[in-house]
Amino acid sequence: MEFWEVLRRRKTTNGPFLDKPVSKEDQHRLMEAASRAPSHFNSQPWRFILIEDPARREKIAEIGGRTMRQLIAEGKFFERYRKYFRFSPEEMARRRDGILIDQLPAPLRPFTRQVMQPWATRLLRLLRVPEILGEDNRKLIAGSPLLLAALLDKSEYRPGELSGFYSLLALGMAIENIWLATVELGMGIQFISTPMEIPEAWAEIKRLLEVPDELELMALYRLGYLPPEPPRPRIDWQSHERRPIPQFVFRETCARPEEE
Ligand SMILES: Cc1cc2nc3c(=O)[nH]c(=O)nc-3n(C[C@H](O)[C@H](O)[C@H](O)COP(=O)(O)O)c2cc1C
Repeated sequence: MEFWEVLRRRKTTNGPFLDKPVSKEDQHRLMEAASRAPSHFNSQPWRFILIEDPARREKIAEIGGRTMRQLIAEGKFFERYRKYFRFSPEEMARRRDGILIDQLPAPLRPFTRQVMQPWATRLLRLLRVPEILGEDNRKLIAGSPLLLAALLDKSEYRPGELSGFYSLLALGMAIENIWLATVELGMGIQFISTPMEIPEAWAEIKRLLEVPDELELMALYRLGYLPPEPPRPRIDWQSHERRPIPQFVFRETCARPEEE
């Protein structure tokens, strides 16, 4: 695929993957893509765990589902992230950032805006939104043939020091390389972030993956091959809009936005 097409087609996969193992060859291509990323002094501070074992994936899925349910039920998710939600195509077209919730079960639609308000947690519970989101998340993770953990070598990743920052940059670039490579391989990828929002759940994942003291578990992803026409989750969003150049680029100094 042509480079610019790959770049433009890269996206987050919210829906399910095919029930088909990711070939060892493709797994190693993804890892080669990661390893091609730049890093400070070529230190290559990243480490990855390829997770295929069904029991381990089920357990991670259970933790993913449980943490999603808990975060929604306690109102923490919307409290933390309300500012990123857009509620209409018009609002999205104007802002060109954030995520647009464009798929909701019928009973929820009249409350689209309200569900993000602090007082709406009880309403969400009444409509069983935490259970819906939790169960959907569990199923999506359990049905993903490949989970990927991203880690950093703690001798490089020292938060507060420059090498900590450099390591994070390097890992980010390695992950982006993987993300781009999924496009070429007909695969999708999605961040599994809810377990890291709850420290005890994150500790559970670390134990499950036998992460040693020298490594820091940084992020978790689910991957797989994309179906030709992926069904959408019951509650879903899209985020393909991007800010126009004058809204994020300056010329020479911050005093002068770049022109279109
Ligand atoms: C640090 C970081 C955290 C993210 N967390 C999540 C997440 O928890 N769940 C998810 O589905 N996507 C997550 N994403 C993906 C973003 O939502 C997504 O990249 C953004 O909305 C743009 O959409 P796109 O990737 O489809 O272009 C995360 C991305 C980054 C870089």
